[in-house]
Amino acid sequence: MTHPALDRGSVAVITGAASGIGLATAQALSARGMGIVLVDLDQGALQAAAATLDGPSLCRAMDVADPDAIDALAEAAHERFGRVDLLMNNAATRVAGGGDDTLDNWRRTMEVNFWAAVLAERAFLPRMLAAGRPGLILNTGSKQGITNPPGNVIYNVTKSALKTYTEQLQHQLRNTEGCRISAHLLVPGFTLTGPHRPDPGGWSPAELVAYMLPRLERGDFYIICPDNEVTPEMDARRMAWAAGDMIENRPPLSRWHPDWAERFKAQS
Ligand SMILES: NC(=O)c1ccc[n+]([C@@H]2O[C@H](COP(=O)([O-])OP(=O)(O)OC[C@H]3O[C@@H](n4cnc5c(N)ncnc54)[C@H](O)[C@@H]3O)[C@@H](O)[C@H]2O)c1
Repeated sequence: MTHPALDRGSVAVITGAASGIGLATAQALSARGMGIVLVDLDQGALQAAAATLDGPSLCRAMDVADPDAIDALAEAAHERFGRVDLLMNNAATRVAGGGDDTLDNWRRTMEVNFWAAVLAERAFLPRMLAAGRPGLILNTGSKQGITNPPGNVIYNVTKSALKTYTEQLQHQLRNTEGCRISAHLLVPGFTLTGPHRPDPGGWSPAELVAYMLPRLERGDFYIICPDNEVTPEMDARRMAWAAGDMIENRPPLSRWHPDWAERFKAQS
């Protein structure tokens, strides 16, 4: 089964495409005969990425958090290819800080990891709807935005906002008469990309994309990827435990609370 938005001749706009998951997605879709618009911060890195593709591409060096640059990107993509069938909001910045980090770090991370997806949807979706063709919006979330492990508060908040936003977007699209666009949430497992050292527990970006594409094609909204250490069953138990904090009146993040950690482990 193939999704028409992923057919030969369709066009994908991918942010964070110079590296990691974005680049592996660009390579897989280019190999299928799609045109690719690669978006990232650095022109040299983009050109190196584009050189690994099989087909037509357009490189845009820009900051995804810049509203004017996003509008110009939508113009440029339509001018070059005349259509956009897949928008993948995938660029992210990682701030390791806790909640007491600077407000500048809070704002910047929110703008790149969350607001950029809202800006891009506003710039691209009206034209995708007007084209009347099937289309896809794919937002890259994180397990940290679902189970909220302690530590990277800012990153977790941005990814949980993106999850809520993407769920609402898909609900709205599903209830729009005649709409052939759908939104999806990609939730990578541990994937060996730019910031990560080699690790037997991680998947390669190509493995992740091979897992993601058939699920996207069959219409899954949540595409929650395992890795070499975390199985889908383990993810299911972790997500159910996090929801159980509310249902069972446990403290938040009880999985990491001394009174509860052993009970979670005993269940696993
Ligand atoms: N690798 C993992 O284990 C993992 C796990 C969960 C979620 N994710 C998510 O996957 C997505 C892709 O990350 P990755 O792991 O491939 O990392 P990566 O660092 O290889 O790729 C991210 C890309 O985004 C670009 N980028 C950052 N800020 C930008 C900006 N303001 N404007 C334009 N481009 C910008 C970077 O230059 C980089 O090329 C991210 O959303 C990340 O949060 C990754």
